[in-house]
Amino acid sequence: MCGIVGYTGPQQAGKILLEGLHLLEYRGYDSAGIAVLKDDKLKVIKKEGKVARLEEQLKKEDSLGNCGIAHTRWATHGKPSDANAHPHTGCDSDFAVIHNGIIENYAELKARLQKNGHYFTSETDTEVIAHMVEEAYQGDLYVAVRSVAQQLVGAYAIAVVSIHEPDKIVAVRQETPLLIGLGNKEKILASDPSALVKYTKKYWRLENGEMAVITPESAEAFVIASGEKIDKKIQEIDWDIDEAQRSGFDHYMRKEIDEQPEVIENTLRGRFAKDGTISLPEFDDVAETLRQARKINIVACGTSYHAGLVGKYLLENLCSIPVEADIASEFRYRNPLMGDKDVVLVISQSGETADTLAAVRLAKQKGVPVIGIVNVVNSSIAAECDAVTYLHAGPEIGVASTKAYVSQLVLLMLMALYLAQLRNVEFDASEIVADIPKLSGYASELLQQEQKIIQVAELMKNKGNCFFIGRLLDYAVVLEGALKLKEISYIHAEAKAAGELKHGALALVEDGTPIVTAVTQDSIRDKMHSSIMEVKARGGSIILVTDKPEQAQDIADTLIPIPKVSSYLSPILSIIPLQLLSYHAAVLRGNNPDRPRNLAKSVTVE
Ligand code: F6R
Repeated sequence: MCGIVGYTGPQQAGKILLEGLHLLEYRGYDSAGIAVLKDDKLKVIKKEGKVARLEEQLKKEDSLGNCGIAHTRWATHGKPSDANAHPHTGCDSDFAVIHNGIIENYAELKARLQKNGHYFTSETDTEVIAHMVEEAYQGDLYVAVRSVAQQLVGAYAIAVVSIHEPDKIVAVRQETPLLIGLGNKEKILASDPSALVKYTKKYWRLENGEMAVITPESAEAFVIASGEKIDKKIQEIDWDIDEAQRSGFDHYMRKEIDEQPEVIENTLRGRFAKDGTISLPEFDDVAETLRQARKINIVACGTSYHAGLVGKYLLENLCSIPVEADIASEFRYRNPLMGDKDVVLVISQSGETADTLAAVRLAKQKGVPVIGIVNVVNSSIAAECDAVTYLHAGPEIGVASTKAYVSQLVLLMLMALYLAQLRNVEFDASEIVADIPKLSGYASELLQQEQKIIQVAELMKNKGNCFFIGRLLDYAVVLEGALKLKEISYIHAEAKAAGELKHGALALVEDGTPIVTAVTQDSIRDKMHSSIMEVKARGGSIILVTDKPEQAQDIADTLIPIPKVSSYLSPILSIIPLQLLSYHAAVLRGNNPDRPRNLAKSVTVE
């Protein structure tokens, strides 16, 4: 859940590491720190808070040098503080360590080290690694780090530097992501490609149980357990640094909302033909399994889970296949009954979410095939699925997922059509097929309604509490709308299936309570209107997203019209005003939507 970066080469390491930390800050912003080697000395500078605070400190101190490591932290063991910030050193400042993950056996290791006379200055699990390397070092950093890695239990991407081998970084990976950028006479390592791309597009992705030793001139990879050298495959980053930056928007989240028309097209490209034929060759190897599947279990977390709820509805209705949708952290512990001919479908933007990854492993342990919908290419989840299809949504930096969600919905629709074709399920897909090519243009039109949505956000910005209601696919959408609002604006937002409101939550509706609702499903439109009248009668102030505004004039206090498309596709459009509403409510309340408190982009711990 942290971001790590390391550099060795002819340039000023401090500058490159700082740039890297800014790009990786979405992975955690409880503290940031840097360790740079110069003149046989290790300079460690670290600060609680955001990277900007570290940057201020660096202006006051000399951090020159050509080799170093840096870290931006999302706290697990130990509160956010200067002392708990990485890098950590041993008793003598000969070695510095950064770490993303959790060392599960750290307490036992720490007790042993303390018995041997080591003293600790932080509450972190990471500090044990620095002391262990210090104890193990006998003239070869690679040997020392390898022997330490063999004693660690848990999840980790670690990088170590030492004054004894001043242009070298040794890195190990187990469970959490680590990439090694292979520049010309310089090497850079990082948790994700955004920190590499300015310097090199060529990289290795370390796999579980692998380690690397880099110097400006060389990069070598080894299996931790055997020490065997690995002939790693070089991969290429196929996007530019500009794509990972804000392009003039105030926040990544707003930029990513704006990218959605393009993302819809990217997700469809090469997969959807105008006659409705779907091409997903990445599933060729599992096509027979999917054709015969008896049940699909969709597993994901957060926003991706909400996409999964839409997927459940689409797959059940369009492919006549039973589908269960599970939150990954529940699925992995509830002992799910899965039988012969079940298939697990995991959905993850980052491809690194620990609970979703655990669900993949559980399913595979039970012999159940796993397919994935993932955004980040070559991520851990992608690597472990039997087959994976990628969103092609581009890097999503804002912590609150927007464009990845819309892309997930598009891809789930394509999967539903693909499965229906594979399983010879006949239904009239003509409306869906005719509407799919219009989605991108309609999404652009919706973005034009921003001024109106800012007015709604103004009305909501001082509220402490609100409800989101919907039925069927609209219920799945309002679950996501409520999550967006609460995570970045900190207004408490509760999503309810509209028919369920009167079974309890209605008691909380009072004069002026905002009720955000989506009404796009023809089959229950009248029932939805009745549910809205129930809350309106109790003083609720109705903000209504609908594709038939003419039928809702008398019901809504604020009407947000969206284009009319097949009700199966409407979530792709109806979520856009809700994303904008959350964004503007957050900004009006003075929050930074890209950095919601207590949250991080990539949840690589349980
Ligand atoms: C909320 C959000 C999270 C993620 C969740 C799963 O806006 O982004 O709820 O959806 O942490 O992440 P992925 O999709 O990366 O597995």
